[in-house]
Amino acid sequence: MPQMKVGSDRHLLGLKNLSKTEILGILDRASYWENYPTKVTNYLSGHFVANMFFENSTRTRFSFEMAEKRLSTEVLNFSAAVSSVQKGESIYDTVKTLESMGIDAGVIRLKPIGVLQELAEKIKIPLINAGDGNNEHPTQALLDIYTMRKHFGQVDGLHVSIVGDILHSRVARSNLWGLLAMGAKVSFCAPENMQAPELSEFAPYVSIEEALKADVIMMLRVQLERHDQGKITSAEQYRELFGLTEEREKLLKDHAIIMHPAPVNRNVEIDDSLVEHHRSKIFPQISNGVPIRMAVIERALT
Ligand code: CP
Repeated sequence: MPQMKVGSDRHLLGLKNLSKTEILGILDRASYWENYPTKVTNYLSGHFVANMFFENSTRTRFSFEMAEKRLSTEVLNFSAAVSSVQKGESIYDTVKTLESMGIDAGVIRLKPIGVLQELAEKIKIPLINAGDGNNEHPTQALLDIYTMRKHFGQVDGLHVSIVGDILHSRVARSNLWGLLAMGAKVSFCAPENMQAPELSEFAPYVSIEEALKADVIMMLRVQLERHDQGKITSAEQYRELFGLTEEREKLLKDHAIIMHPAPVNRNVEIDDSLVEHHRSKIFPQISNGVPIRMAVIERALT
């Protein structure tokens, strides 16, 4: 079996400090797994991986489980809702408990920011960030970048507009760091109360009309659960001002593609008819998440 050439750090906490070479290594290895002749290989049999989700997930959680099972790792699924977290056990004690049982790597999704970094300093096994608060979601951005590379052949020189709730978006942050490392240009478009001003030195905020001129239009979910009351007046108004509507789709460049990390609020940030439009990569993004996560699990364990 070919071995992956990666750096010594087997954690994957974010893309902010990952080099282009490391990102390319993961993308190339994902391509290897995508084209692997069989669905399951015993490549990583004998390794135990725990999926520790302290926040809800459908895509990331099942995509990691698919990836782990395709590599024949033993999978433990931890769900905070039915664990001793409900009795007040801390995230650190939970992860330390699973490490003590002998897991070889942990995939972890958390709400609080900064906890994952602290865990990585104290825990010996590799940890993979499956989304931490509004900080980073590195495997989402890797699968997004992989999807762009697959479509356009390269990412260097692409212009990517990320539209929506930048303030609360870990997807926007991981994509920003990953895309800049890969040589792409990033623009943000967001209502004023959904902007993260500290990011404007890396990606300018532009109007929706300007954002539509990009090669890739990445729409973000309006995260109703993270908003204080009063930030969004109505879904209809959001759609009118910032949504990717059928009318706005007609203004896109001929070669432009539409992306969205999902879950999607249909007819809020994107019109229902565009979700499975020929320009849309929303479901291919989900498919590409499996080989990306195979590459990331492999990176952690080998
Ligand atoms: N894109 C994404 O992270 O989806 P889930 O929250 O369902 O994992």
